[in-house]
Amino acid sequence: MIEKKNTQSKKYVLGQYWTAPDVCADIVNNINFENSIVIEPSFGTGNFLHALKHINNQKIGIELDDEIFSYQYADANTKLLNQDFYDFDIKTNKKLIFIGNPPYRTPAYSLGTHKDFLMRLTKKYNVPGIREEAVFFILHTIDIIRNNGGYGEIHYILPEALLKNNSKFFTRFKQFLKEQCIFVNIRTIKNTAFDAVSQDLVYLFLDVKPVIHQDRSLFFYPDLEPQNDNVQKYVLFNGNKVLLDDYLCLGNDDIIPFQKIFKRTYLGSVPCESLLMSVEGESREHFQSRLISIINDKNIDIESLYDKLQFKGKFHLKIFSGALKSDAMIQKKLQIILSYVKNLQTYLSIQDFWNSDCYKEINVRNGIRYYFRCDKIKKHKNFVYELNPNPCRSFYFTGNPSHSSTDYFGFCNYDINRNVSPGANRTVPVDNVEDNLTDSFKAWWRANTDEPFYNIFEYIMYVAKTDWYKQMKRQNKRFYFAIPAEFIPKEVRNLKKVV
Ligand SMILES: C[S@@+](CC[C@H](N)C(=O)[O-])C[C@H]1O[C@@H](n2cnc3c(N)ncnc32)[C@H](O)[C@@H]1O
Repeated sequence: MIEKKNTQSKKYVLGQYWTAPDVCADIVNNINFENSIVIEPSFGTGNFLHALKHINNQKIGIELDDEIFSYQYADANTKLLNQDFYDFDIKTNKKLIFIGNPPYRTPAYSLGTHKDFLMRLTKKYNVPGIREEAVFFILHTIDIIRNNGGYGEIHYILPEALLKNNSKFFTRFKQFLKEQCIFVNIRTIKNTAFDAVSQDLVYLFLDVKPVIHQDRSLFFYPDLEPQNDNVQKYVLFNGNKVLLDDYLCLGNDDIIPFQKIFKRTYLGSVPCESLLMSVEGESREHFQSRLISIINDKNIDIESLYDKLQFKGKFHLKIFSGALKSDAMIQKKLQIILSYVKNLQTYLSIQDFWNSDCYKEINVRNGIRYYFRCDKIKKHKNFVYELNPNPCRSFYFTGNPSHSSTDYFGFCNYDINRNVSPGANRTVPVDNVEDNLTDSFKAWWRANTDEPFYNIFEYIMYVAKTDWYKQMKRQNKRFYFAIPAEFIPKEVRNLKKVV
């Protein structure tokens, strides 16, 4: 039936990945099947049908690929059809519950087999411009529910990028979903549950109701919607109540905030004030033995600490030696550093301080300094200097610029910056940056340029110098670092290094 030369290409063309049985069971066991017909529109090897075995409702399973199709799960209640989902229809008064893991693939295989049908569907619901199979599956699913009076539920596993992509066409697709359905629940599915799936996946539970738009308060989940509003505001995402538009990246289409660029950034710092930083001119060995003598001293007090913080009468912190000198301030600072010492003594061993790998070299304005850097310390959030909480080759940027902030962007291994307000900078590992970019951002970048993903760092540094950024700073009291959603081509960036 499906003319594909080998299983590998067929697997790709039809998006054949099997949902792990425990994931299927978990989804099935949380559905209320009362008075409904259950439909698995692309059952593959039947893992969802297996999980549905104990449900006595009328069930229908559909699978296109005749090499995979089997009647294994057929029984008195379960009808199995070896056909294309787009050729499937049903007439019923019952509620329809669709459950499964539709194929995902762009361009959709069905554009070769059902193009006219799909074009009519996308026109009917005004969802143009998308060629993704999973989107067509959802459209056909909603259409079937609507044609039967509009009572239905959708429980599909989908690539999260479908819900995050903020391109013009996907934005419209998500608005369509909001018009047609209530987003009941979204949960991350670990893609380790799948063989060779590299996308981030979610389980999406949509409730389709007969009346759309008119009085949505009828359908509200009171615990989720505190206000008697007519628009769904919140959704449960991994058990937490989050703003639906934020989750769907529908908020502000003109900007892309850093959370939608990077999957993970590192915020924070470690206590290193004076204590963990060598003094000017001090060798690494001297610094190490000085530090050991501090940490070894279980009865250390303010006086002895003051002595041990010096090298040749100099301190690392200006407050101890500079013009700022005043007893009260010194006492206060020493108390803080003493509390760090006591704290470090509780969870670091002296072996940690003997380990020469824990002494990192950094360049400062007038020479080289050393500081003690140990992975165990990153869990402690006392801030003094901003050190990279995930030490490795990294890019740092100001995560929360404000109208008055001085912002920093650049590359570092360990120390980010020593003159900023606490917690202002975030870091992102530079190596393999592609793995840390969101799918929606990668889609946006690819749609705009052939440049390597690595150039995002240069791109951010460029944006931070533009008038656009200065205006963002002026008009927003505080905002998450963002780039404009309109891409700035390389030629323009090269022309105007600073706009
Ligand atoms: C991602 S797999 C999921 C299979 C199964 N639902 C599961 O969760 O294990 C997608 C399935 O959709 C089937 N498929 C692809 N296009 C289809 C279509 N137009 N109609 C019905 N099934 C289709 C593929 O053959 C494949 O078995």
